[in-house]
Amino acid sequence: MERYPLVEQRFSPFDFYSSMRKNNPIIFDEENERWGVYRYNDIEKILRDHSRFSSKFGPLDLPLGIPPEYEENIHRPSLINSDPPYHRKLRSIVDTLFVPIEISKLAPRIENIVNELIDKIIEKNNNTTTSTMDLISDFAYPLPATVIAELLGVPFEDRDTYHQWADVIVGLKENSNIDYIKKVSKTFDEMDVYFSKLIEERKKSSSSTQDNDDDDTLIGRIIRAKVDEHFLSESEILTFSHLLLNAGHITTVNLIGNSIFSLLENPQELKRLQQNKNSLIKPAIEETLRYPSPVQLVIRIANDDVTLSEEKEGGGGREIEKQEIKIKKDQKIILFLGSANHDESVFTDPERFDITRKNLRHMAFGTGIHFCLGAPLARLEGQIALRTLLERFDNLQFDFDYSDRQDLYTKFTPLKSSLFLGLSHLPIRFQTKNRQ
Ligand code: HEM
Repeated sequence: MERYPLVEQRFSPFDFYSSMRKNNPIIFDEENERWGVYRYNDIEKILRDHSRFSSKFGPLDLPLGIPPEYEENIHRPSLINSDPPYHRKLRSIVDTLFVPIEISKLAPRIENIVNELIDKIIEKNNNTTTSTMDLISDFAYPLPATVIAELLGVPFEDRDTYHQWADVIVGLKENSNIDYIKKVSKTFDEMDVYFSKLIEERKKSSSSTQDNDDDDTLIGRIIRAKVDEHFLSESEILTFSHLLLNAGHITTVNLIGNSIFSLLENPQELKRLQQNKNSLIKPAIEETLRYPSPVQLVIRIANDDVTLSEEKEGGGGREIEKQEIKIKKDQKIILFLGSANHDESVFTDPERFDITRKNLRHMAFGTGIHFCLGAPLARLEGQIALRTLLERFDNLQFDFDYSDRQDLYTKFTPLKSSLFLGLSHLPIRFQTKNRQ
């Protein structure tokens, strides 16, 4: 039995998840030696129990039996795949920069970037009243890529290069043959060379200005940080930089793309939003995080033998059967956040995209000690992007004949990834409003 939604269900995995929550809420995949967990409460328990369920594995789900040198190169110890106390130490280097109050200071710069991107789109359309764009490549990708590049101190002109790196890494789960794994490992090597040069330049320029604290980029901060009285090693700085660059843009592209897609698919919600922008932009972004969650799963590994209890409906759908699930030490566990966010025991009418939903306890950013560092940034970017698009454009529509979600698989390009839910392209049509 499949533990992951099939490739053609990846943009709409919700029926699959619903059936798993009902019939196989915690299930072992013998062939790949992984557990799949689908219910909100089970996932929450596991994520909050970091002493028994370790992150020392990483977000990339490599197949069994790959040569250790590639596994080591891809699964390097970093913030996202470490446990306390090392995790706490790494996180403290960047934590204070990512709190909402600090992130809110970036709003004017994000608004500028958004408006510049929109100006370019209008210009490309020669200022015609009805215009078109690919929402992903013209807008949703360059926005978070520019923001994280500026924060890190990475030249934005290199975005094509790091776009390609991100594509290779994202494609890993679906192409887990040895040649592809070599390609991913080579990508990590290329990123090392790139960041090594950048780090060297930063070190040189801060020593020449005599003021080590002058460099307020994230890379500068990571270079200066001390953990247990020691500076981070070159390899730790490199891995931290890779993580922030990738996590900072791959995910938020999907948040922006999925928000417009969901609103166009639910015109009554779009109308409500247009009439109540001030009050509904934030909840619309939260509902996009819940419904088409940009990150669909996270992974843990059992530190010890653990017994969980599972309840499922017995025959005839009436009796509840209780069963003990024994997870063995070192077994991997895939936690489907995308399924948790549609769990009917937590969300009323979960298959409805409802921007006035009151319960916002979604798990799109995970939970527990690894709760997404960039959540305030992703939210702010999503809110500014959505608000500005609605302020500057009218009559937003799909620029293709959309009748149901299945059409997307024949005409367009939903990501094939089981980790990320989003689109590679989203052609839309719109009219430009006159700016007051
Ligand atoms: C909509 C956008 C985003 C989504 C849905 C998302 C989702 C997630 C999730 C689910 C985790 C938990 C991983 C786990 O438990 O194993 C996570 C962790 C993380 N995210 Fe995000 N993320 C987003 C945007 C960002 C941004 C903009 C950054 C930029 C800095 C970022 C940086 C990180 C980092 C560094 C971690 C690791 C935190 C830790 O291990 O303590 N994310 N993210």
